[in-house]
Amino acid sequence: MDRRSGRSEGRRRNWRGAALAGGMGLLAACERGPQSALHPAGRNAEAILDLTLILVAGGGVIFLFVMALAGYAVIARPERFPGGRAWIIGGGLVFPIVTLTALQVYEFAVARQLSDTGGVEPLRIEVTGYMWWWEVRYPDVRVEGGEVLRTANRLVIPAGRPVEVVVTAADVIHSFWVPSLGGKMDMIPGHENRLILVGERPGTYRGQCAEYCGAQHALMAFDVVVEPPDRFEEWLAAERRPAAEPEGPQQTAGRDAFLRAGCGSCHTVRGTPANGAAGPDLTHVGGRGALAAGTLPNTPEALAGWIAGAQHIKPENRMPSFPILGGDDLHAIAVWLESLK
Ligand code: CUA
Repeated sequence: MDRRSGRSEGRRRNWRGAALAGGMGLLAACERGPQSALHPAGRNAEAILDLTLILVAGGGVIFLFVMALAGYAVIARPERFPGGRAWIIGGGLVFPIVTLTALQVYEFAVARQLSDTGGVEPLRIEVTGYMWWWEVRYPDVRVEGGEVLRTANRLVIPAGRPVEVVVTAADVIHSFWVPSLGGKMDMIPGHENRLILVGERPGTYRGQCAEYCGAQHALMAFDVVVEPPDRFEEWLAAERRPAAEPEGPQQTAGRDAFLRAGCGSCHTVRGTPANGAAGPDLTHVGGRGALAAGTLPNTPEALAGWIAGAQHIKPENRMPSFPILGGDDLHAIAVWLESLK
């Protein structure tokens, strides 16, 4: 085999590899996952999927028809092409006016449905986008002590009840998107946008920032947990309580090291002197599904690694690395924080 045929063989293999990877990517996109607009878990996501399918199928049929006509026009002699000017008036004027008008009416109806709570008082949740995490507030829920319930990177909502999510941003424009539950909504500094989510199928769904917002845009994810109403009330009751008292010497040492290291100037842990507001509230951090906005699994090992090397794991985020903490302190802090369910 000479060099040239070797090279073209290699190129063919590359093509085949690319086609295979593309096909597998498509298949993976069709899999039922926690973040899929193709597997809606609520009625608003369903309405958006229906609209998408109608647009894609309708657009596909029109595209194929136009391509067939164009192909025929290339091979047919002009005098064999019937219709003449009727094609221009019918296909270029009447057809688009009728189709686009019908679609517009349908889209207005869908948009109306998406903002409709069906006469039910929605649960209100305020979400603020930060580089690169999500502050979540339940403005109508007060914790023990009287402040508004505040958490991070995770929304827990009751199944079946509409939720009005009021979104804004603290620094740059972000976009709130939970494909399994609804559409995207821009988060704009100094401006509030509203979005109705309805979760009908209990489960955990992944949300992702959908607007490029800087170096760690890809590591800005969150969870939406849809719970049956009674489980949701249990969660609320637990979340209202301050952090549990440390159990045993290691957890106590962890809490003391956390306070000594100054973590409380950015983070709040209710029930301790830590009351910072610059970073996520950690009062119940151990009960969340992930750390650092979907970046790491929520385990003591990952948490210790995050505290020691936050800038290495997620460069330019606002949490400094703490390489000065000794191994024992790090481990104790992580064990204590993980105990805060
Ligand atoms: Cu926040 Cu992209």
